[in-house]
Formats: sequence, C-alpha cells, structure tokens
Amino acid sequence: MPRVLVVDDETGVRESLRMLLKDECEVVTADSADAGLRAMAELPMDLVLLDLVMPGKSGLTFLEELSEQAGTPPVVVLTATKTVTAAVAAMKLGAADYVTKPYEIDALRIKVRQLLQHRALEREVVRLTDELDQRTRIGDLIGRSEAMRDVFRSIERLARSPATVLIQGESGTGKELAARALHDLSPRASGPFVPVNCAAIPDTLMESELFGHERGAFTDARDRRIGKFEAAAGGTLFLDEIGELAPGPQAKLLRALQERVIERVGGSQTIEVDARILAATNRDLEREVQQGRFREDLYYRIHVVPLLLPPLRERREDVKLLAERFLKKAHERDGRGPARISRDAQLALERHHWPGNVRELENVIERAVTLCDSEVLQQEDLPEALARGVRTEALRENLQSGQLSLENTVASFEQELLREALERHNWNQTRAADALGITRRLLKIKMDKHSLTK
Ligand SMILES: Nc1ncnc2c1ncn2[C@@H]1O[C@H](COP(=O)(O)OP(=O)(O)OP(=O)(O)O)[C@@H](O)[C@H]1O
Ligand SMILES: [Mg+2]
Repeated sequence: MPRVLVVDDETGVRESLRMLLKDECEVVTADSADAGLRAMAELPMDLVLLDLVMPGKSGLTFLEELSEQAGTPPVVVLTATKTVTAAVAAMKLGAADYVTKPYEIDALRIKVRQLLQHRALEREVVRLTDELDQRTRIGDLIGRSEAMRDVFRSIERLARSPATVLIQGESGTGKELAARALHDLSPRASGPFVPVNCAAIPDTLMESELFGHERGAFTDARDRRIGKFEAAAGGTLFLDEIGELAPGPQAKLLRALQERVIERVGGSQTIEVDARILAATNRDLEREVQQGRFREDLYYRIHVVPLLLPPLRERREDVKLLAERFLKKAHERDGRGPARISRDAQLALERHHWPGNVRELENVIERAVTLCDSEVLQQEDLPEALARGVRTEALRENLQSGQLSLENTVASFEQELLREALERHNWNQTRAADALGITRRLLKIKMDKHSLTK
C-alpha cells in the first residue's frame, strides 16, 4: 500500500484527511514542518500533503529543504483560498499541485489517486531499467562481469542492425552462443539460423556447400543441391571459423558479400542473397591478413562491426556464476551429484588460468560431478592442474607474509614445475627435461634433491 504523509498543524485537518484516504493508502501525520521532515527521513513516502501556513517552519521552507534532496515524492500543497499567491510560490519550489481549503472531498481523493498511480509507474520504470542493467544473461550466454555486460549490451544493439558482425575471441569463449543470440534477438528470428563450420569442410567441397550446385556440375553432383546461402534466406548465415577458409573459397565468398548475389556451381542463374551474415574466428585475423593468409578485402567486408568475447581469465567474477550453472545443469540431468561448491574449490576455480575458457570450465565441472559423491564439490574433485595453482598461490602468500624464505619458496616452485613436467610426460625423464629446457642429467639431480618419484 502506498504511504502518504500529511503535514498540518491542525488536528482536525490531519484526522479528516486520514479518514478520507485510509482506504487508498497508509497515512502518516506530522503536526509541524520539522516533524514532517523527520518522518520522511525514517520512512519512504509516496506523496506529501502539506499545509503552507504553520507556526514555526512554514510549508514553503519545508519545500525548499526538500528540493535539495534527490528522489523526493510529489507534494500537494493545502492552502486557504486567500493565499493562492503562496500556492504559486510553492509550485515554483517544486510542489506537484495545490488544493484550496476547504477542499472538495472527491476532487482531493482523485488527485491523490492519480499522483500515486504516476509514482508507481515511475517506480516500475526505474525497476525495469535497473533490471536491464543487472541482467546476467542473454540467450544462453551468462555472465555478471562488466566485460560480459558490455557484450550483452552490444548484442542487444547489434541484433537490430543488418550489419555483418565478426565475432572474435579465444576458443571456448562463447562465440557460437553469441551468434545464436544475435539471430534470436533480430527481426530475422523467425527465419533459419544456418551455421557453416569452415574448418570442417574440405576446400574442394566448400564452394558447393556455400552456394549449392546444379545437377551434373561435377562428377558426384547427381542432383541439384541448395547451398547454405540459399538455405539461410530470410534468416542468418553463420560462417564459423572463417579464418580457416582457403584462398579459393575466400575469393568466392568476397564476391557474394560484395555483390549480394550468388550462382550455384555449374549454374548460370544469379540468386539474390537474403541472409544476414555473421562470422566468427579464434584467430587474430588482422595478423592473418598481414601474413598474407587472409584476403584483406574480405577481412574488411566481414569486419564491419567487431564483437569481442573476453577470455575467462579476464573476468573471474563470472567463474562462480558459470560453475554453479553447469553444476545445476548436471544435477538436473543426472538427478544426482553435488549441489554446492566448497569455498576451497571455488578459489581454485577462480585462480585457474582457463586456457580453454568456458568450455574448459564446463568440462571440469562435468568431470567433478561424476567423481564427487557428496553434497558439496571439493577441491579434490578438481583436476590436479587446478589444485597446483592453489599451492603455488599459497607459496606466494607464505613468502609475502614472511612465513617462508625466498630460498625455500623458489625451491618449492621448482619442485612444482618439475612435478608438473614429469606428470605431463608420463614420468618420461628425457621428454620432461626437453620441455623444461634442461639436460636429463640435471633433471635427475634436481629430482633427487626434491626427492621426486612417481
Ligand atoms: N557465457 C557463457 N555462458 C554459458 N555457457 C557458455 C558461455 N560461454 C561459453 N559457454 C559454453 O562453453 C562451450 C563453448 O562455447 P562456444 O561453442 O560458443 O565457444 P566458441 O567461442 O565458439 O569456441 P570455439 O572457438 O572453440 O569454437 C559451450 O558448451 C557453451 O555452451
Ligand atoms: Mg565455435
């Protein structure tokens, strides 16, 4: 129920207003301007009914002091007919309206109702705007970091535009999910979303895959076939791993994007392109261009708007949210497994470098769920590499807090590095030594020093 403050020195006025409004709202009364200001400091009000002439601080001074605060409720001034000029002064100080005394009961009730409705709408707008700012997902992408919220805002904006978007980011950062979100939020959402994995199709078949072919176009072309460009008509064509495209198909693709028409292989009819183009790559395409592996003109065609998905290690705030989501997903699917993540395990997850980004995190959680048979996922359920990160971090902390000397810390680090190399190479000493850039003899000496054995 909305809350209304009545500020008037006359008990009669306060009580009659309380009776009048008690069905519409909660009424709080104050017998002076100061008492009114105190009441407002204690409780949020949705509307104030204010008498102008009161002993002590006047209604106008009350308004003045209020106008210095932010987010104050609307004020309706109650005034005797004689003092309409004062009412005008009150309006100038920000009062929403005024009512002359003696007031008409129905008119006042309607006025209060309207102002309260307006106030509720304003509140709703603020709440919805906040919610948009606080959103932690778009499509299937989730994240709460500032970096991901930037991505969400870009996706929302870009979805409405027909521009070609190049989605860049390391492997496993969610490029495909971003492409789907761009399609699903676009005016083409009811049309098809057609992904093409440029890395998975042999060069010789690429052209026919993209543009289709006529019957008899080549030996295996027994029937006419529609290509991905045509299949995506009215929708979105997603050229995934575009950095892997060979020079021949690159040239054909450039032409299709430039002229917005295609021809099926072995055909002569030109077909208009009616698909929005999205592309993705985990390569540094600009460098590929510099090194002559990717056509510069094609690069500029697809690089109209770039969308960069940041690596997971640069947005560690997202790790917990993602890990919990993956845990919940596994739990719902299997009907078993841990429901929570221990503090230690969470720290280990947050400290890891995540070279494989969100995909790696998803795999780590999946694996942990199958290993863990208690309610809470523990650090022991995580791969050795993650626990190691915590151990080296602990060493660093011990050094900084003076619990360990530099010499001991370095020795422990060395031990960790040796163990890691040996484990990675299945305790093959020659290969581990190679990886560490030392001789096998030196490795052996160091293994003895640290008493490292399988
Ligand atoms: N922000 C995210 N929220 C939820 N799941 C995510 C997110 N990012 C990635 N994933 C999940 O991680 C996996 C990899 O995502 P996706 O296939 O979109 O990555 P990618 O960038 O296309 O990787 P690649 O370059 O290796 O193809 C998927 O299982 C996806 O569901
Ligand atoms: Mg991908």
